[in-house]
Amino acid sequence: MLGERVNLFKMGTGMVRTLIAGNWKMNGLKSALAEVEKITARLAELPDTADCLLCPPATLIGAMAAISGDRLYVGGQYCHNKTSGAHTGDISAEMLVDSGARYVIVGHSERRDDHAERSAYVKSQAGAALRTGLIPIVCVGEEYAQRKRGETAEVIERIMRKSLPTMPEGSHDLVVAYEPKWAIGTGEIPTMEEIGVVHALIRKVLVDTYGMDGLKMPILYGGSMKPGNAAEILSVAEVNGGLIGGASLKADDFISIYEAAVA
Ligand code: PGA
Repeated sequence: MLGERVNLFKMGTGMVRTLIAGNWKMNGLKSALAEVEKITARLAELPDTADCLLCPPATLIGAMAAISGDRLYVGGQYCHNKTSGAHTGDISAEMLVDSGARYVIVGHSERRDDHAERSAYVKSQAGAALRTGLIPIVCVGEEYAQRKRGETAEVIERIMRKSLPTMPEGSHDLVVAYEPKWAIGTGEIPTMEEIGVVHALIRKVLVDTYGMDGLKMPILYGGSMKPGNAAEILSVAEVNGGLIGGASLKADDFISIYEAAVA
């Protein structure tokens, strides 16, 4: 079984562009844009062999997009599944595009927990994103107790099959982020082997769902990725980048991770 997965990886090698994505969560005031200026200046000196993205709070998307240049993409952390209407406090995919976003994170475990977003809703959010031309980053991850019970593969596959959107005609771009819930913000990470097994499974489900397009979709690892562990995690088969929370808030840390990706 693992052998099959490894072969699948080999088919995909080289076809997937690495993406280093930062998720600022509910952090960042206008003063934090100084970090973005540092990031864009540093990116200009580095190879462009990986993509770089920051997802700030919605209040900063427009201002960040205005200074991000052509090497740093900007994304949202959430979108509603409808285009507009009576949904107080919500933001549509179209609004994110209008503010300068190119990607949107959907189904982050913090949204699933804090706002009871279920996989069926995540699927509809990703569909709304795709219809406006945004690239959705669909997050999946297991609880610590599920890993301990040996249910990780089953849980990940189940969440993926319920959360992955139907691709509208002409859309091919989608990103999946594997984020073990117990690794987010804790400093704990799975072993490299454990990460490799889950990423191989995610690749298999992507290919099952989207055929050849599924070979080109980046699979990010997220959960306590830092400058000190990024190179090792990024060297694992089928890890095509990272979704980085805490370490994306400081330009030096975030750029160190990008450097590991382009080294
Ligand atoms: P962390 O968060 O890097 O702070 O663990 C990752 C995430 O939740 O996307």
